[in-house]
Amino acid sequence: MRSVVKGSGFVVGEHLVPNARFEKIMDTSDQWIRERSGIEQRYFVADGTSTSDLGARASKIAMEQAGVGPQDIDYVVFATMTPDHFFPGSGSIMQSKLGLRNIPALDIRQQCSGFVYALQVSDALLKAKVAKTLLLVGAETHSPFMPFSDWPTILGLADNAPTEEQRALHTAVRDRAVLFGDAGAAIVLQRDEEETERGLIDFELHADGSNYNKLYVPSGMAHRPYVSPEIIKQLDHVPHMDGKFVFRMAVTKMPEVVRSLLGRHGLTVDQIDHFIFHQANLRINEAVQQSLGIKPDRIYNNIQKYGNTTAATIPIAYDECRRSGRIKRGDLLCFVGLGAGFHWGAALLRD
Ligand code: ACO
Repeated sequence: MRSVVKGSGFVVGEHLVPNARFEKIMDTSDQWIRERSGIEQRYFVADGTSTSDLGARASKIAMEQAGVGPQDIDYVVFATMTPDHFFPGSGSIMQSKLGLRNIPALDIRQQCSGFVYALQVSDALLKAKVAKTLLLVGAETHSPFMPFSDWPTILGLADNAPTEEQRALHTAVRDRAVLFGDAGAAIVLQRDEEETERGLIDFELHADGSNYNKLYVPSGMAHRPYVSPEIIKQLDHVPHMDGKFVFRMAVTKMPEVVRSLLGRHGLTVDQIDHFIFHQANLRINEAVQQSLGIKPDRIYNNIQKYGNTTAATIPIAYDECRRSGRIKRGDLLCFVGLGAGFHWGAALLRD
C-alpha cells in the first residue's frame, strides 16, 4: 500500500515585485539581495487575497491534473504559518471555497518544513485508511507582516517616495522584507492498495524549540493584550530573525538529516535522482549541496523567481519539475526543509 501523488499545482500572488522596487522605499540594492540570497524577484498578493485563496487556486489546478472533483477529496491537510486569521485555520475556510464535502480539515504549522511534516501526516492518514484521496496544501501570504507605509508603490501601482521616517522604518526590517514571497501550492495524494514501488517511502523529522526566539513573531498569546500600540511600535508584530543563526542551523541540520534518512535505506546521494530543498536562501542550498556532494544536475532551485514562500517552496519546485519533464516516472526524490521552531526534516518519494 502506497500514498501516490496524483496531481500538483501552484499559484503566486498577483503582483510581481522585482528587487529594484525595494530600492525605492529602503536602503538596499538589487545587488545586495542577489549576492546574499540569490533572490531576483518575488510575488505579493493583491489586497483582499488570503492564504486560503492561494490554497484554493492551487488545489483546483492539482485536482484537475489528478482528475478528481470536490466530491472525491476526503481530507485536507493545510500547512501554513500565515493563516487568514488567528483562528480558525485556513483549511476549513478553503474547504468551503472549494465546495468540498464536510470532510476533516487540519491546519499544521511547521513553517518552512511544513510541507515535509504534512507529507508524513498525510501518508499516515492514508495508510491508516482514514482517508483515500487527500488534498495537501502549502500556502503563505507573508507580505502583510511588513510594516510598509505605501503598498501601491511596492506593488508597482504607484511611484511615491517615502518620507525619511518611513524609509528608516522600512530599512529596519530590510533583512526580512526582501526574502519572502506569497504563493500557494497543492498536491493530491491517493492511497493505492496495489502499489509497491511508487509513492511516499519514508520520512525523518525533528524539532528543537530551545532557540525558537531566533526566528519568531514576538506578539501573541504570551502577552496580555496580544496586540497593543507598544507591540506595534517595537515591531513585535513583525517576524524577528537572527539571520546568521538560521543560516548556520540550515547548513548543519539539512545535510545531517539527509545522511541519516538515506543511511537508513542503504542509499547514497548518487542514487537520488532529484533533491528538492526548501528555498530560503540560494547560498544555504549551495552550501548543503557541497556538503553532501550532490551533482548540480540533481538539484533544483527556483528561489530566484519566487523568494522564500515557506510551506509552498518545495511543492512549487516539485510541480515545476513534474510539468517540465525534469522528473520522470519512477525517479527517486528527496525533499528537505528547515525552518522556524526549529523544525526540520526530509522525505523520500518515488514519483
Ligand atoms: N539590504 C542591504 N543591506 C542589508 C539588508 C538588505 N536587504 N539586510 C541586511 N543588511 C545589512 C545588515 O544591516 C548588515 O549591515 P551592517 O554590517 O552595517 O550591520 C549587513 O547587511 C550584513 O548583515 P548580515 O545579517 O550579517 O548579513 P548576512 O550575510 O547574514 O545575510 C541574510 C543576511 C540574507 C538574512 C542571511 O543571514 C540569511 O539568509 N539567513 C537565513 C534566513 C532565513 O532563511 N530565514 C527564513 C527561514 S525560513 C522560516 O522558517 C520562516
